[in-house]
Amino acid sequence: MAGRTHLVTGSASGIGRATRELLESRGDRVVGVDVRDADIVCDLADPGQRAGLRERVAALAPAGIDAVHAVAGVAVPQTITVRVNFFGAVATLRELRELLTGSAAPRAVAVSSLAALTPVSPELLAALRAEDEARAIEVSDALVEGGEGGLIYSTTKRAIAEWVRERSVTPEWAGAGIPLNAVGPGVIRTPMTAELMASPESREALFRGAPVPLNGPAEPINVAYLLAWLTSEENRHTTGQVIFSDSGADATLRGPRIFD
Ligand SMILES: NC(=O)c1ccc[n+]([C@@H]2O[C@H](COP(=O)([O-])OP(=O)(O)OC[C@H]3O[C@@H](n4cnc5c(N)ncnc54)[C@H](O)[C@@H]3O)[C@@H](O)[C@H]2O)c1
Repeated sequence: MAGRTHLVTGSASGIGRATRELLESRGDRVVGVDVRDADIVCDLADPGQRAGLRERVAALAPAGIDAVHAVAGVAVPQTITVRVNFFGAVATLRELRELLTGSAAPRAVAVSSLAALTPVSPELLAALRAEDEARAIEVSDALVEGGEGGLIYSTTKRAIAEWVRERSVTPEWAGAGIPLNAVGPGVIRTPMTAELMASPESREALFRGAPVPLNGPAEPINVAYLLAWLTSEENRHTTGQVIFSDSGADATLRGPRIFD
């Protein structure tokens, strides 16, 4: 099926940009969404701007879209991370789902993280499970104030992975024939990790938390290949999965016995 139309958030940099380039090189069309350098400039941290997203995408793709990739994210120990990584991604998937329904092979994917497997804030996770943005902001402000802002990123990535698993098998997604998955990257060489990769000491600390026994840290294109397959017409039956593309980090850290 040539000429599919993909919506990619975070298209200006890193994994989102690599995904855009890959899909375009294969003859597909990409509508990019980002805070900068995009077809649709939209701040996904802002509930008002999120609310207008569906209309803006529909204006650029009046025949609808075939796939949604919720890639945009930030990794700072601050409250903005809650707004972008969880509420921005949920709004992208939920608001744009309707534009998928005319496609012969509709697909959706979100980018979670290996960090989803690391410690989280139970209070923040509860607010995200309830999709209560006001409460989530309150809790994350308190985490920042208490010096625990580092838990915010992992909690948002756990919550979006859970959201994908829960929604994937509902009438809106599986019932509408839409595979909905998440990928969990490990260490990827993008501007997000540039500082952590800058010195041998910081790299070593990073790899202790996220080991990379298979071929070391990955390039953004390596995640893009997976996103492209999950959103291709070849994927008819894989849904509700969080697929770690992590150079072996998950298998190293959690080992084989995760199925109990
Ligand atoms: N790089 C890694 O090692 C790694 C690992 C695990 C998960 N991830 C996830 O992958 C995704 C992409 O990250 P990346 O490494 O390519 O980082 P990146 O910083 O290169 O790209 C992130 C993109 O998101 C956009 N963005 C940020 N805030 C936004 C907002 N409010 N509204 C709209 N767009 C916004 C940025 O402008 C940027 O283009 C993120 O969700 C990140 O959490 C990255």
